[in-house]
Amino acid sequence: MNKKIYIETYGCQMNVADSETVISIMKTKDFIPESNIENTDIVILNTCSVRDNAEQKIWNRLDFLKGLKKRKKGLKVGIIGCMAQRIGNELLEHEAVDFVAGPDSYRYLPDLVNETDIELKTYKTDFDTTETYSGIEPLKNEGEISGFIPITRGCNNFCSYCIVPYTRGRERSRSIHDILNEVKILKENNYKEITLLGQNVNSYSYDDNGKIYNFPDLIKSVAEEAPEIRVRFTTSHPKDISDDLIYVIAGTKNICNHIHLPVQSGSNKVLELMNRKYTREWYLERIETIKRVIPGCGLSSDIFCGFSGETEEDFQQTLDLMEKVRYDSAFMFKYSVRPGTFAAKNLADDVPENIKVERLSKMIDLQNKISKKKNKEEIGKTLEVLVEGHSKRSKEMLFGRTEHNKVVVFPKKDAKKGDFVMVKITEAGSATLKGEIVS
Ligand code: SAH
Ligand code: SF4
Ligand code: F3S
Repeated sequence: MNKKIYIETYGCQMNVADSETVISIMKTKDFIPESNIENTDIVILNTCSVRDNAEQKIWNRLDFLKGLKKRKKGLKVGIIGCMAQRIGNELLEHEAVDFVAGPDSYRYLPDLVNETDIELKTYKTDFDTTETYSGIEPLKNEGEISGFIPITRGCNNFCSYCIVPYTRGRERSRSIHDILNEVKILKENNYKEITLLGQNVNSYSYDDNGKIYNFPDLIKSVAEEAPEIRVRFTTSHPKDISDDLIYVIAGTKNICNHIHLPVQSGSNKVLELMNRKYTREWYLERIETIKRVIPGCGLSSDIFCGFSGETEEDFQQTLDLMEKVRYDSAFMFKYSVRPGTFAAKNLADDVPENIKVERLSKMIDLQNKISKKKNKEEIGKTLEVLVEGHSKRSKEMLFGRTEHNKVVVFPKKDAKKGDFVMVKITEAGSATLKGEIVS
């Protein structure tokens, strides 16, 4: 009998894309995707290690799964993703865990699962610097309109606080032909939006028999291959975002005018300790160029407070930078030491927890204020929105996103998921816009 497999995904969009790769691999070996955890034969958790609380969530989930296994004899549980790579051995010791596979080992998953019937526990976390999952067909979900396409895997930047280079291994770029082929498949399946993914998309570089394709070349090819599809990308490292790319975005209609450009900190001293390889001045110049070449470009960021040595003055520099840039939105965190990183080994975690909490809440308050103000500036404008589905609050309302990545909620009229509609904005809060469809 074919076994049913249920996956839960934590962490970043790369993990979301990887879970699809995993399902695709498992399907070729006759496993059947299952969406109800109570009905499945195999549970897989695709995990994240970026902050301690991300890992804590998994340990808690494993305690729940230990209980579920008592009720459901024969249920197998596997851990994949970044936590599997970082502490696979420790995870295997947990009563609930049967198999572990790191991000470069997903082709072996069907075997690892089958072997749990013979061996007690199975394990594979070798890095394979050539693995890009070439030849694995992307999973097309019925009725889905938005898809992710990884273009690079791994990271070589070694920001001093970050675990990703250790969990994902060295950076490698996927073949432009594989990527364009996936674009074609998504296009044929009526997708309306594609997001190109990488820890640092700007370092994409693919050598096709002597012809080198960089990120601006790639995104232009993707946009041309699918002129009716919205193209997005994430993440850009500020040190590598080129004028070339900014001009390609400005000059290509279906590349969304939105750039996620994580700054992390506004203080030069802290940026240097973080090994980010740019200064506050460099960053602000990049933002100025973006604003000049792409008027109205949506801007978002990742920022965290409480890194080693961050003084009140350093923190004020971060707030000051946030006010100068005026992001539309930002993901904000407090520093969490990751064992094995340069910072964990060499830099003291010396900002007290209560100060981290205080600074984080100040950042969030400021960003909410900025977002709200910027969103209010949209009132009265008519914006193109890609409908993503029903609003959580009401079946009569739809929600979607503008090209600047702002969420808009509006009465549905005749529109449905996957439609592009013109919406006149009538109200704005810090997180969403409200409006009415106009013809
Ligand atoms: N490759 C992307 C994002 C990687 S992780 C980039 O370079 O921007 C996503 C975000 O998590 C980071 O941008 C950073 O803001 C945050 N982050 C990473 N490590 C962290 C840590 N140890 N503590 C707190 N936040 C962290
Ligand atoms: Fe981590 Fe830096 Fe790589 Fe982003 S660029 S994944 S923050 S090491
Ligand atoms: Fe987390 Fe790994 Fe992504 S650590 S943020 S799932 S690359």
